[in-house]
Amino acid sequence: MKLSDVALSAEPSATLSLNALAKEIAARGENVVSFTVGEPDFDTPENIKQAAIRATVAGYTKYSPASGYPELREVISKNFSRQNGLDYPPGSILVSNGAKQALYMLMLCVLNKGDQVLLPAPYWPSYADQAKACGAEPVVIDCVSEPELKLTPEALERAIGPKSKLLIINSPCNPTGMVYDEEELRALANVAAANDLWIFADEVYERLIYDGLRHVSMAGLSDDIYRRTVTFNAVSKTYSMTGWRIGYAAGPADIIQAAGRLQSNLTSGPNSMAQKAAIEAISGSQEAVEEMRSKFDERRKLLTDGLNKIDGIECKTPGGAFYAFPDCTGLLNHSYNGTLIADSMSLSKALLETERLAVVPGAPFGAEGFLRFSYAVSEESIHDGLERLKKFIDRRD
Ligand SMILES: Cc1ncc(COP(=O)(O)O)c(C=O)c1O
Repeated sequence: MKLSDVALSAEPSATLSLNALAKEIAARGENVVSFTVGEPDFDTPENIKQAAIRATVAGYTKYSPASGYPELREVISKNFSRQNGLDYPPGSILVSNGAKQALYMLMLCVLNKGDQVLLPAPYWPSYADQAKACGAEPVVIDCVSEPELKLTPEALERAIGPKSKLLIINSPCNPTGMVYDEEELRALANVAAANDLWIFADEVYERLIYDGLRHVSMAGLSDDIYRRTVTFNAVSKTYSMTGWRIGYAAGPADIIQAAGRLQSNLTSGPNSMAQKAAIEAISGSQEAVEEMRSKFDERRKLLTDGLNKIDGIECKTPGGAFYAFPDCTGLLNHSYNGTLIADSMSLSKALLETERLAVVPGAPFGAEGFLRFSYAVSEESIHDGLERLKKFIDRRD
């Protein structure tokens, strides 16, 4: 029997598959240093776990409303107003099982077959796969040679065609860690508005930001931009709650309500006790968020300094998220222990096979020659990983 075109075109997540291979090797008792995973290494804060336990005992174990509990949407609404200066009433908010699902629900609501989705590269690979699953076409805009790997209004203008429907902006960005400032966002939004595009603003890393940079929400730039933007966020990265699967989308009420109707048929709604935990996460003490952020900040410096000391590697300083995305083209097209390494995938594989060092290749992010290191790992792992990387390079023939 033949599978559908969507099933045949679906790629496994590059990050998850490399992480799985690293775990498989580690399960054999080998010491793997892994920088692959896109989640904080801290435990979920205790007050959040206790809220989930209380909710479970109190019987929040049944289906919730398909778009999420009203009390959670109320808390998210207040948080948007406090944190981002955005006015999203609870009826304009959809809670999903993670931001990933929220993104997919909303893509299903704006994209028709053949529509084009504009993706500035480097980009988070799931955007492209989700667009394809909607029958749309991802159009990658190469920003790799830009000084900060960011989209410019000129490059956006050049990429827009008659079928362009949606622009996705992710700031702070996975994988680059780059942060767009207000002026940059406004320039992009103006081009999007002039061409009547939807904008998806993925802000899941907004609280993980360094060097005094300020996160700016796209939807807050003007009334017109607000009306064409859907803002995405989640408790996953901010509160170390990746496994709880709570994320959300906020935008014009009609599209959010359409997404809620779709969601009611696709998942019935988000996990009930995790939603109660998310209420505590967002409205309770924020101390743990700052503690985690400042730890990431220390590791960020340690890792990027270490990478930049290695010949053949150039790493821009990430202003947000928890990824370093060095340009490693200087390491390619050389032989190591008799094997020619010509691309980022072979480099990642060789690092894992010879040094037990797991990093994600840049190719699936639309940036061949780069590697992605998550610094949501201990300082010891960063020291150890850098040593392994140097040892590998020393094997150059
Ligand atoms: C840029 C970006 N958006 C969305 C997500 C998905 O977040 P969630 O775990 O809430 O589904 C991720 C997770 O890696 C991400 O990096």
